[in-house]
Amino acid sequence: MALKLIWHGHGTWSLHTADHKILIDPFLTSNPAADISADQAQADTILLTHGHGDHVGANADGTFDIVEIAKRTGAHVICIYETANWLSAKGVKHVTGMNLGGTVKLPFGSAKMTLALHSNGLPDGTYGGMPAGFVVEADGRKVYFAGDTAVFQDMQMIGEAGLDVAVLPIGDLFTMGPADSIAALRLLQPKAVVPGHYNTWPPIEQDVDAWAESVRNESNATPNVLKPGESLSIA
Ligand code: NI
Ligand code: MN
Repeated sequence: MALKLIWHGHGTWSLHTADHKILIDPFLTSNPAADISADQAQADTILLTHGHGDHVGANADGTFDIVEIAKRTGAHVICIYETANWLSAKGVKHVTGMNLGGTVKLPFGSAKMTLALHSNGLPDGTYGGMPAGFVVEADGRKVYFAGDTAVFQDMQMIGEAGLDVAVLPIGDLFTMGPADSIAALRLLQPKAVVPGHYNTWPPIEQDVDAWAESVRNESNATPNVLKPGESLSIA
């Protein structure tokens, strides 16, 4: 079975292998673009790029989607060390804290934690450590989840791993915008790109068709625009 990458709106993704379900940055209950509820989310591994409310799934009632999903599924949560401590204190049992440059072996392959140029204060003001991205290796394929980040020159080194797919934010304001995502693609040189972190709310609205045209004209990557609930098959 090919790898399947599913967009759940905003920065929330699933990556499914034949045997494993990986969930990235579960923000569902309070995500106006989400295609599923937190109750429906499936995961044996959860990768968390950073602890902002729109990535841990902070809700007005004080709950966090990532905590609820991890408790229900028993999923193994992977994130940066300080954020891992915060999740452990909230009762998440199976958490691995790591740091930038590290790789964790997982049942489906591995995840390497990469630099992200962003911030990472936790919703209650706790210091969350550095924000991050991940290069996930599964079924012999490499998928880069940039997380929330600006473009940075060292993306060239991340790209040297040989990326099948790059998942990039294009919403601007809180992350890189469409123009900088083209610069990122020139550094990363992935075979394909999937955009995220846009059109969730008015401040990050983007013309994704115009973006896809720019990707075709100005980079070597194939753009794959998904709607929430749609998936890309990575052969
Ligand atoms: Ni953020
Ligand atoms: Mn975000």
